[in-house]
Amino acid sequence: MSATAELKSSGLEGVSAGKSAVCCVDQGTLLYRGYEIADLAKNATFEEVAYLLLVGEKPNATQLANFKKSLLAHREIPDDVVDILRQTATQPNAHPMDVLRTCISYMAHFDPDCQSIDPEAELRKSTRLTAQIPTIIGHMQNIIDGRDIVKPDPSLDHAANLLYMMTGRKPSAEEARIIDVSLILYAEHDFNASTFTGRVIAGTLSDLHGAVAGAVAALKGPLHGGANEAAMEMLKEIDQFIAKGGTVDDFMTRAFAEKRKLMGFGHRVYKNGDHRAGILNALGRAYAEKKGPDAVKWFDIGDKVQKIMLDQKNIFPNVDFPCGMTYFTLGIPVPQYTPIFVAARITGWAAHIMEQHQNNRLIRPLAEYTGPAQRKWNA
Ligand code: SDX
Repeated sequence: MSATAELKSSGLEGVSAGKSAVCCVDQGTLLYRGYEIADLAKNATFEEVAYLLLVGEKPNATQLANFKKSLLAHREIPDDVVDILRQTATQPNAHPMDVLRTCISYMAHFDPDCQSIDPEAELRKSTRLTAQIPTIIGHMQNIIDGRDIVKPDPSLDHAANLLYMMTGRKPSAEEARIIDVSLILYAEHDFNASTFTGRVIAGTLSDLHGAVAGAVAALKGPLHGGANEAAMEMLKEIDQFIAKGGTVDDFMTRAFAEKRKLMGFGHRVYKNGDHRAGILNALGRAYAEKKGPDAVKWFDIGDKVQKIMLDQKNIFPNVDFPCGMTYFTLGIPVPQYTPIFVAARITGWAAHIMEQHQNNRLIRPLAEYTGPAQRKWNA
């Protein structure tokens, strides 16, 4: 096989696997349905971006009001799902991403549209899941904390309600906006591994909940969405290393010698930086500076790690690196970082699943066989 073919088949790097009108990811821009990510992060709310991704156009005032009313109406989750949370959330081997995946699968049985791939039914299901996933995350954290369930608060917007349900404390406007922007940044990213997983499942004409459950499983991996948790754990490891007299430079020298993958760095598509990382880093650092030196410390360590990665490896941070530091400063438990990524990416996944169903062909690539030549069983 030629070197180019070898390259293309290793993780499908550089291979275009289909057409999509949802998102454009390239070195120069990140567009959701034609709107640039910095424009959305500055001027839109997550509810507006969710509508844009699911429906395809920016909502007018009436459409937004109706969409928000629908999200509010569907925030509650069935008691049976809360029971599943009580049985699974504190299991010693249960990671919140696995618990969330289980609950999403389980919720399909309570959704009247679950077997339908009709566009209207899928839009209803997508809206319901967008509303319900933050509640699953909130109730899950309440159970892990051994506290009473915090019910959704209808007076709070989507992002603020997510934080409130996790902690029982109403966030400040700044805290709510930071989460809101992080949800916008995480919402969509064309044929990333989890979205493509969802499209492959949808390509068999299987249902939306099943495709989303598969996407959640894909996103959990530390090479993908799980990197935001792993990035924060790496920063905590560096902090402990420094506390024992080490330096960031020493840590990084050892990491390079061990050929260690630094979590929150690198990207299959972006080789000159992730458009989203700088936006979240600026928001997170500004908030940390108000919280004081114990919070700013993480961003100072982060800046040193970023500089060494750039100077010595020419590798840029991706969105997961600033996410770790920012969510940590907001007091969010590390194991809930990737579930919050799901609370955002459900909108991108659903948009792609609906797009696949509406113009479908089974996704079935070829494999290049490298096994033994034909041989006889009773040789
Ligand atoms: C997300 O696809 C998307 O759009 C994903 C995402 C989205 O919004 O959906 O953007 C979200 O998943 C972001 C990525 C989060 N993952 C991580 O931060 C995990 C750490 N990153 C790496 O594992 C890696 O950068 C990947 C997986 C993200 C991309 O890997 P590639 O394209 O397969 O590149 P590679 O592993 O082949 O690396 C090329 C070179 C290698 O060096 P050599 O072996 O050729 O000498 O760069 C090095 C790698 O060792 N390298 C790294 C590195 N990333 C690449 N070295 C150290 N640390 C890293 N993080």
